[in-house]
Amino acid sequence: MKILVINGPNLNLLGRRDPGHYGNETLEAMNTYIADYFKKVELQFSQSNHEGEIIEHIQSAAAKHFQGLIINPGAFTHYSYAIRDALESCALPVIEVHLSNIYAREEFRRQSVISPVCWGTIAGMGKYGYILAVQALAHQLSHKEK
Ligand code: DQA
Repeated sequence: MKILVINGPNLNLLGRRDPGHYGNETLEAMNTYIADYFKKVELQFSQSNHEGEIIEHIQSAAAKHFQGLIINPGAFTHYSYAIRDALESCALPVIEVHLSNIYAREEFRRQSVISPVCWGTIAGMGKYGYILAVQALAHQLSHKEK
């Protein structure tokens, strides 16, 4: 089982960016924690600050034999119709993850243009949100394979 995890803009700054909302852990440490948690799932992690690059990762995911996508689009969540459209066309189950509870923050963060094209959304649980997302995809995909 192969799952791609995409993190968007400014998430490379985890560890020093707004620790009140995002914690003290670096992206690298968080990815290692998530990868180590799963023995039977092949996880690949990517991070980009560029909308076009994120779209290219999404567009090529199925051809690269990924079976599911987990995405934290960062601030693109709130306005990128281009990422929304790419996710809608990617033919893979997608879970949107946010470290912080976007519904308990500023008004502009309370809307996600991504959510309507995702299987589900997890927000506010920090890195555990990624763990839950992998578990949900693994569960759904293993049912499909039977
Ligand atoms: C975020 C929430 C977004 O509003 C913000 O722009 C981010 C991170 C989160 O993980 O909580 O970059 O997606």
